[in-house]
Amino acid sequence: METISSIPSVDLVKHGAEEAMEIITQMPTTWFTAIIVGILVILLVRRIFRKRLKLPPGPRNLPIIGAMLSLDKEMHKGLVEQAKKHGPLVYFRLGSHSMLAIQSAEIAEELFKQKDGQFASRAHSTILFSLAKYFGFDSKNMGFAPYTQRLKQLRKVCTKELLTIPKLSATEYVRWEEQGEMIKEVESLDGKDFELREVLHTVAMNVTCRMLFGKRYYGKNVAITKELTEFQELMEDMIAIAGKPNVGDIIPWLRWLDLQGMTKQFKKLHDKQEHVLRNILEDHKMAKKTSANRLASPATMDFVDVLLSLRGEDQLPDDTIMATVSDIMMGATDSTLTVVQWAIIELMRHPESMAKLQKELDDFVGKNRALRESDFSQIPYLMAVVKETLRLHPPVPLLIPRMNEKQTTLHGYDIPENTTVFVNVWAISRDESNWEKADQFIPERFLDSTVSVNGNDFKYTPFGAGRRQCVGISMGLIMVDRTLGSLIHAFDWLPASGKQVADIDNEETYSLVLEPKHPLVCRAVPRLPKVDVYYDPRYVP
Ligand code: HEM
Ligand SMILES: *[C@@H]1O[C@H](CO)[C@@H](O)[C@H](O)[C@H]1NC(C)=O
Ligand SMILES: *[C@@H]1O[C@H](CO)[C@@H](O)[C@H](O)[C@H]1NC(C)=O
Repeated sequence: METISSIPSVDLVKHGAEEAMEIITQMPTTWFTAIIVGILVILLVRRIFRKRLKLPPGPRNLPIIGAMLSLDKEMHKGLVEQAKKHGPLVYFRLGSHSMLAIQSAEIAEELFKQKDGQFASRAHSTILFSLAKYFGFDSKNMGFAPYTQRLKQLRKVCTKELLTIPKLSATEYVRWEEQGEMIKEVESLDGKDFELREVLHTVAMNVTCRMLFGKRYYGKNVAITKELTEFQELMEDMIAIAGKPNVGDIIPWLRWLDLQGMTKQFKKLHDKQEHVLRNILEDHKMAKKTSANRLASPATMDFVDVLLSLRGEDQLPDDTIMATVSDIMMGATDSTLTVVQWAIIELMRHPESMAKLQKELDDFVGKNRALRESDFSQIPYLMAVVKETLRLHPPVPLLIPRMNEKQTTLHGYDIPENTTVFVNVWAISRDESNWEKADQFIPERFLDSTVSVNGNDFKYTPFGAGRRQCVGISMGLIMVDRTLGSLIHAFDWLPASGKQVADIDNEETYSLVLEPKHPLVCRAVPRLPKVDVYYDPRYVP
């Protein structure tokens, strides 16, 4: 019995193991014994090896189901509870994945500054698996892709060609027209109750679609194509499903069972997404062949035209273009409209801030013209309101989870490879040690502050920081500043009929973005002599 002689070498190990060995030695067949001993030794070695890692503190065994439920709705708050017990760096396991939550400005700074390179991947192979595979065209998009040379190049191209301030300024007329439609629509409600989110949702979709796909898909003189309607429905379905955790992404060996039927839905949506986007691409390619003139001036090119026109090392394959378009669509709609909704909720709850903002707009813009994007640098209170809203209600409260492909260290602890990392910016920007009266809406705190949205101060990173920072900061801010500024300039805001300001709450709910739990229902009353300065073509800025 060769195998039994190996027992003394294991002798050093704990009692339980010895007992197990005894049982094993009584087993009848040698080969069976050998296998069991082999497995046991492997388990022991792995255990001993694991023990050597100095893992950050955290709940020992978070029940999978409990953790999944908290992943769904209130994870940002659940993690704060864990931080009270374990400190600002919390390590836990979910299904077969290691997870890490960072909940202090100090550790966020270490992550974004010293360790940014090590944690530059996304959890594309773990909890973002379905999103990356189906919506990201096998991780060809930006948001869910691993950090590779290809991704760096894609981020650079998109930033340079689409998302710089000068490129965005060239499309101001698109936003002027679309937001004019929005003002007209709110005016036509004639002071009756309406759900603000619905209007904000349409305008965000309308603006983004037009910037991406151009006029041919949209506009007063052109019938809305079936594709666009399809695309907007598709986006809504995608956003709805993207907010729910897929059990198969958390427990990969259950993936094939597809318990919630989500993989099936993901596949179906992906096919539809590919179909719709391919049509749009083919259409743009045709138009390019037939009317060279349209592309003569960069001002009339939409995002898809630009992406198709890239040559040399910047040239992008079709599936990358489709993935990128989906990314921008997803990134630009829900987050921006949510910020505007939160800002109006907080301004209504704080009438003195509302009055101050309207006075600033009246003083600088006046009452006889529309707000323009070139005004932004002269209206600091509007900017402060937006920043404060992003602090109190960051739309992406845990950022998009990062991942380290190799084992590394953080804050003096070992972090195993493939750990999914959440940065709880919601917690950090409500931390009393970073912010006075952290729970209150006080835009003034940003008036004389050097804290910017660009991730230069780690107590405030609503757009993330480092290598995976949001590429759409300028576009997002332009959309938010403009929509919010024009709505506040053009209208007075009242609670729904029969309600008081005190009835407007700021409770949150979290799925894909952190939204108001109770969507705002309100009334808007024109406050300019002629609201049509916002949409009459005579007043084009
Ligand atoms: C107010 C609006 C917005 C907010 C609050 C926001 C927030 C964020 C956050 C927190 C991240 C993750 C950053 C990180 O992990 O460090 C992100 C990533 C991203 N955002 Fe935004 N975003 C907004 C608007 C936009 C817009 C308008 C676009 C469209 C171009 C966009 C495109 C993206 C993309 C492509 C990524 C992924 C970048 C990467 O993984 O490398 N976002 N955004
Ligand atoms: C968005 O576009 C649709 C389709 O033309 C239009 O009916 C609607 O009024 C627009 N909505 C807003 C808020 O701009
Ligand atoms: C980490 O992820 C890579 C790529 O998905 C995989 O090959 C590797 O086995 C993973 N490692 C662990 C410990 O899960």
